[in-house]
Amino acid sequence: MSSSDGIGRLRALEQQFESECVSIVDHRSLEDTRARYLSRKSGLLTIELQNLGKLPKEQRAEFGRVANQIKLKIEGALETLQTSIDRREKQKTLEREALDVTLPGNRRRTGHRHPLTIIRKEIEDIFISMGYTVEDGPEVESTYYNFEALNFPAGHPARDPRDTFYVADNLILRTHTSPVQVRTMEKMQPPVRIICPGRVFRRDALDPTHSPMFHQVECLLVDEGVTFADLKGTLERFHKEFFSEKTKTRLRPSFFPFVEPGAEVDVSCVFCDGSGCRVCKGTGWVEVMGAGMVHPNLYGFVNYDPEKYTGFAFGGGIDRYTLLKYNINEIQLFFQNDLRFLEQFS
Ligand code: DAH
Repeated sequence: MSSSDGIGRLRALEQQFESECVSIVDHRSLEDTRARYLSRKSGLLTIELQNLGKLPKEQRAEFGRVANQIKLKIEGALETLQTSIDRREKQKTLEREALDVTLPGNRRRTGHRHPLTIIRKEIEDIFISMGYTVEDGPEVESTYYNFEALNFPAGHPARDPRDTFYVADNLILRTHTSPVQVRTMEKMQPPVRIICPGRVFRRDALDPTHSPMFHQVECLLVDEGVTFADLKGTLERFHKEFFSEKTKTRLRPSFFPFVEPGAEVDVSCVFCDGSGCRVCKGTGWVEVMGAGMVHPNLYGFVNYDPEKYTGFAFGGGIDRYTLLKYNINEIQLFFQNDLRFLEQFS
């Protein structure tokens, strides 16, 4: 092998590299080219340098010089290409991730409370401010707590499966929140001062004022010397706080098995102030609750001394209070989850 052949090959390699440089556009093609010429085992230039020993002694110096020159040239060129590829890639990333801070954002819709929840909280707050605590009770209830212990006689029509949802023989979906009265008295001695808001269930067909599931709030107060006047005063105070100072409360005699005497509770119509309108059907009054003095028979079920204690109880529909407060005429709106309706409350 003559030195000029060897050097000729080196020059050819150099030219080949130069023409290949044009197609180096990214890191991958760069690394491929680097490996092809300079890899330690099989690089084209590496192989030439390994052959150095086979050349006649006098040609080795020149060949080595040229080979090293070309090696430096290739390394230099790859280095330059690497820098410009790096810069280009960085620029591309910046463009891709560019953020236009002036674009309108994707506003997240914030949720808010359901009107029934708003009103339940309002009612709770008024009673809490009067010294009551909030109790809870099961929605699946025994007939014992829902009826027996509330002094309902055996054949009472409310027990009929056509009115009440039965889960099993003696297990139902509670038809009112009154069972919490007995459950509470079982677990604490007087003075008792509680309210219990919650869901109740009846086999009613859907219409603008009825739903098979609705909400009630129950109130129970038992202590020494509690009178009917305390009941009326409490209801009056509550309605003035809840509706307005102008609101009047009226009690009409009525019957519920668990109170004696019992009453139905009306408020002066919040829309016409009692002068008569569509909501109060011209009467000036709207019925909102049942109430009364706790029947002494209930104390027998919970071992309270009926000679020592008296108490009052009342219960009303939270849905009804909400309809009145917001002047809504359709209970179904509460349960249809139509955002156009729900968004009006905050
Ligand atoms: N539980 C009765 C109902 O659902 C309402 C009621 C009436 C509750 C009189 C009471 C009460 O606490 O004393 O119709």
